Amino acid sequence: MDDILPLAKAHKLPEPVLKPVGVPHVEDSAASEHEPAELEAAPLSPRLAAYQALPVTKSTITHNYTPALAVLDADDMDKEELEARIVTVIEDYKEKLQLRTDHHMGYPYNLDFDYGPLEGLQKYCINNLGDPFIESNYGVHSREFEIGVLQWFARLWEIDVDDFWGYITNCGTEGNLHGILVGREVLPDGILYASRETHYSIFKAARMYRMDSEKIATLESGEIDYDELRAQLTANCARPAIINVNIGTTVKGAVDDLDRVLQILKDTGYNEDRFYIHCDGALFGMMIPFVKRAPMVTFKKPIGSISVSGHKFVGSPVPCGVVMTRLKHIKGVSSDVEYLNSRDATIMGSRNGHAPIYMWYTFTRKGYEGLRKDVEKCLRNAHLLKSMLERAGVKTMLNELSSTVVFERPREEAFVRKWQLACEGDIAHVVVMPNITIRKLEHFVQELFESRTRVSVAEAMQLAEDARALDDDE
Ligand SMILES: Cc1ncc(COP(=O)(O)O)c(C=O)c1O
Repeated sequence: MDDILPLAKAHKLPEPVLKPVGVPHVEDSAASEHEPAELEAAPLSPRLAAYQALPVTKSTITHNYTPALAVLDADDMDKEELEARIVTVIEDYKEKLQLRTDHHMGYPYNLDFDYGPLEGLQKYCINNLGDPFIESNYGVHSREFEIGVLQWFARLWEIDVDDFWGYITNCGTEGNLHGILVGREVLPDGILYASRETHYSIFKAARMYRMDSEKIATLESGEIDYDELRAQLTANCARPAIINVNIGTTVKGAVDDLDRVLQILKDTGYNEDRFYIHCDGALFGMMIPFVKRAPMVTFKKPIGSISVSGHKFVGSPVPCGVVMTRLKHIKGVSSDVEYLNSRDATIMGSRNGHAPIYMWYTFTRKGYEGLRKDVEKCLRNAHLLKSMLERAGVKTMLNELSSTVVFERPREEAFVRKWQLACEGDIAHVVVMPNITIRKLEHFVQELFESRTRVSVAEAMQLAEDARALDDDE
C-alpha cells in the first residue's frame, strides 16, 4: 500500500496527458469545441469505439461537449418512414448501451441484473409522491413495495419497525441531503463535520442549508483523521456536532470507524443529545453488513440516519437509494399537504415508484445469502485485480474492507474513456461489482498493459526525436 501513498496523498492535478498516437488530444483538437465528440474515436480496438466523453484536464472542465440527437421531424416524413427511423435510432442506441455496459469498470454500479418479469410495469406512471407511510390521493403508486423494502432495511440496520422513518430516494445524494437536513433540524446550531474525502453531496448540503462546516483531513487510507476530528470537536465544544461518517469513500472506499468516532464524541464531552451522526453508505453501506470483521452500522448505536444508493451494489435500471432515520426525528422536517393528501417529509415531491419494485424484487430473489455471496465475489475479485496489477508493476491500493482497487491513473485518455474509469488527480479506480467477472478483469488488465506499453514506446521515441532535432549530424 505504501507505494501508492504519495500519489494518493498528493491529490495533485494531473500532469499534462501524453498525447496517445492517433488520438486527438482534447486541448489541441479543433473538433472538441464545435463538433460532436463522436469524432474522437480511439484506436484501442478495431471492433470498439471508446466511450466518447471528453476528458477533464487541469482543474476546470473546458471542452466537454455532448452531441445532440435531434428530435425527428414528424412533419417531414410519412408515418412508415418515421416509425422505421425511430426503430433504427433505438436499436443503434441499445447496441451502444450494450458495448458501454460491457466495458465499464470505473463507477460503483452493478450492471448485472435481470428484471424480465417486471417489464410490463413500464406502461404505468408509478409515483409515490409524498410520505411513503401515508397514501396520497394518487392511486398509481407502489407504497406497499416501498414499505416492504424499508422494513427489510430496518431489519438489516436493527431498528424496530415502529421506530424508523425512511423512504426510497432518487439516489444516494438525495439520501445525504435528507440525512443532513434532519441533522440540522434536530440540532439547528450544529456544525457539520466531514472528512476531506467525503462525497461532494455532503458539502453541497452544507451550502444549501447554510450550515457551518469543518472539512477534516484524512489518513492515508482515506479514513477521517481521528485526531483532527477530536481537536475540532474540542475547539467547537460550545456548539452541537453533526457528523458525516463515511461507510466507504467515493475514491478509495475507506470506511470511517463509527465506534472510534462515537468514542471521540464521548471523550470530548458531547452527550447523545448534542450530536447527530449521518452515515453515508452509498456503495459500501449495502456491502458492509455481509463482511465479516467489518464494524457494524446499526441503529443500536446512537446514529441519526443512514443512506445508501440502490443502483450501486444492488443493481437497478434506474438510479435510486434509501434513507432511514429515527421516527422521532422526522417530525421537525415534515408538514401536511392537503393537495397531496399526504405529508411532505422528502426532498423530492414526485418519487419514482418503479424503484421500490426493483429493490423488492432483488431482495426477494437473492435474499441475504445471495447478497452475501455477491459481496464475497466482489472482495475476492478485487484482491485478484490488485494482485494482477501488482505483478505487472502497477502501483495499487485496496482498503481492507473495500472492493475499490485504486491504482496509478492510466496515461492514455482513450483507455480511461474506453473503460469509463473515474480518475482523481494521479489515481484511478476500479470498483469491483458483481458484474465484473474474472474474464472481464483479464480483458481489462491485458488492455491496460498494452496501453502502458504504447505510452512508454511513444515517450521513448519522443526522446529520440528531440535528440535528433538538436543533433546537426542527424
Ligand atoms: C460515498 C458516496 N456518497 C454519495 C454518493 C452519491 O450517490 P449517488 O450517485 O447515488 O447520488 C456517492 C456516489 O458515488 C458516493 O460514492
